Amino acid sequence: MDFSSHTQSSLSLSFNSHVSSPPTQPPPSKMTVTDDSISLQIDTSYCHSSNPIPSKPLQLLDEKTDKAHSENNGEDNEKEEEQEEFSILGHPMCLKRQRDGQTLPLSKRYAAEQGLESRRASVRAWGNQPLPKADPEIHEIMEKEKRRQFNGIELIASENFVCRAVMEALGSHLTNKYSEGLPGSRYYTGNQYIDQIESVCIERALKAFNLDSDKWGVNVQPYSCTSANFAVYTGLLLPGDRIMGLDSPSGGHLSHGYYTPGGKKISAASIFFESLPYKVNPQTGYIDYEKLEEKAMDFRPKILICGGSSYPREWDYGRIRQIADKCGAVLLCDMAHISGLVAAKECASPFDCCDIVTSTTHKSLRGPRGGIIFFRRGKKSRKQGMSLSQGDCSSHYDFEDRINFAVHPSLQGGSSQ
Ligand SMILES: Cc1ncc(COP(=O)(O)O)c(C=O)c1O
Repeated sequence: MDFSSHTQSSLSLSFNSHVSSPPTQPPPSKMTVTDDSISLQIDTSYCHSSNPIPSKPLQLLDEKTDKAHSENNGEDNEKEEEQEEFSILGHPMCLKRQRDGQTLPLSKRYAAEQGLESRRASVRAWGNQPLPKADPEIHEIMEKEKRRQFNGIELIASENFVCRAVMEALGSHLTNKYSEGLPGSRYYTGNQYIDQIESVCIERALKAFNLDSDKWGVNVQPYSCTSANFAVYTGLLLPGDRIMGLDSPSGGHLSHGYYTPGGKKISAASIFFESLPYKVNPQTGYIDYEKLEEKAMDFRPKILICGGSSYPREWDYGRIRQIADKCGAVLLCDMAHISGLVAAKECASPFDCCDIVTSTTHKSLRGPRGGIIFFRRGKKSRKQGMSLSQGDCSSHYDFEDRINFAVHPSLQGGSSQ
């Protein structure tokens, strides 16, 4: 808040709760106020005279100013006081304003206004500075990172290089906007264009994987795939419910519920839910589907997860679907690593068999950092996992509302556009 326009005036607000009983005591001595200050004061002169409480000003400026002012006390006495009475929420209020009027030389007032203008100009100039000027330290480190990226080569499967257009869209005015909620139903106003962007994004996400919008919906708001996965668990499960995914050392991902051999729970998925991993056969490196089935039938996970970070084989989605059906689990595929290959039809699609599919958007899809959740909607094509539909013979999927609600408001506020 810029109070500087009140240069040379001092304000005090008096709260008058019993204005009907006229003050019998003399008003408290005028408190010391400074130029450029606003203070809030309970004016005891309006309180019951039997219980005089010393007035306690709320100073909005630091003590230095106050001190400087009190050195100037002789001058203060000459100040004029204006008083204005009004009411807030039915409480009569009294605004006292001290004016230096006569005592402040014109030249001083002119200098103060000039100072304000120059401060405004410098704030404006700072806001328009390019990064190298505004923050040379960060800019220099960023330049070093750029050189590092272009001069070296790292074969990290999680990473990719985005195109210039993505960079431009990311570093834009969109970052200024808060867009909690879904298109057409936002918490704040002014989202008409953000709605359009999100709707285009949803349309394109479905199109990229050749999905029929009557059968699949998508939430494009998660900040990352870890939070996308957690939103699925949050929306569909209760704390302590069971999930089962590929063990991290076998190529799975932490967000599928990893804990160390010593039992230390590493990810929120294993902290808030019970997880039991399945593994690859150490001899062949392939998932041991027999063992997976056996474990799943004992453990009875409510969500069975396929997909991983470093499993370089095709997934047998049909086989894992059978297991999910047999143990009554919802089948979730986290295709983060291969989503670009799936879109390009270079590998098998999880959409034929899975109920829910999550992904990052910044790996093989080469988009900006984010997470995405596809979920089945409409009429059920098969019996949905028993855990979610126990006693519920609904013929329609109920993922959409649960997942959307888990993303916002349960787990995050606005999205990152
Ligand atoms: C399969 C899988 N899921 C989830 C993630 C986590 O994605 P994020 O970094 O967006 O949370 C990764 C990251 O490498 C991953 O490989």
